[in-house]
Amino acid sequence: MFKVKEIEKSFKNKEVLKGVTFEVSEGDRVALLGNNGAGKSTLLKIIAGQIEANSGKIDTYLDFKTEISMMPQGDILIDDLTVFEIVSLKCKMNKISDVDTQEMLLMVELQGQQKQYVGNLSGGQKRRLSLLLTILNSPKLIFLDEPTTGMDLESVDNFWRLLEKKHYTSVIVTHDFNQIDHFFTKTLIIKNGKIIANESVETIHDLGKTVEQYYRETIEMED
Ligand SMILES: Nc1ncnc2c1ncn2[C@@H]1O[C@H](COP(=O)(O)OP(=O)(O)O)[C@@H](O)[C@H]1O
Ligand SMILES: [Mg+2]
Repeated sequence: MFKVKEIEKSFKNKEVLKGVTFEVSEGDRVALLGNNGAGKSTLLKIIAGQIEANSGKIDTYLDFKTEISMMPQGDILIDDLTVFEIVSLKCKMNKISDVDTQEMLLMVELQGQQKQYVGNLSGGQKRRLSLLLTILNSPKLIFLDEPTTGMDLESVDNFWRLLEKKHYTSVIVTHDFNQIDHFFTKTLIIKNGKIIANESVETIHDLGKTVEQYYRETIEMED
């Protein structure tokens, strides 16, 4: 449903992505892994159209505006709106009328915060609000960049639990290794500007490894 082909990106003379190629099929839950600075966010920004690649292309039959949604690494929220207002604003902007806002708020456990200003939310609550805004229009494919950063352990667990219920085809940048083994179906590892591993979680388990073990070994082998 979504193909990324030979994406290259340099900032000034620094090559960050050196030909990144992968494919996402319907139902996939892909963990995009790699060290800090590996180029994960750059890749997602290119997919979102926020920055331009030097070369390469993206092939999909999905509509970028209505069927693909992205949650960036930093929250893009408006501090002096209330939670309810920002959700309503997003609905208006995207012409979403058939969504049960209350149910959505309940799902991300923000039903009690509706009248609160966004600026007063905790880091974890802001991440959950960002997720809500990302999935508000029921996209077919979602990209999440470190969605649980800043959350306490309980919120992290809740976050993955709620996402699990929704069955989104998804590509998620995360360091929550305790979640990867049961949540994801595939792992992509990016290093030195390239995808160095593209493996199903099932295969990794068949090798008798956890994804974390596999990740550490793969990253080291490339050194
Ligand atoms: N706008 C930019 N200008 C210059 N360098 C950038 C820019 N954005 C990212 N980089 C560099 O590209 C590399 C990859 O960054 P990033 O994609 O944010 O990594 P990751 O998300 O995997 O931690 C880093 O070395 C970062 O400093
Ligand atoms: Mg990043």
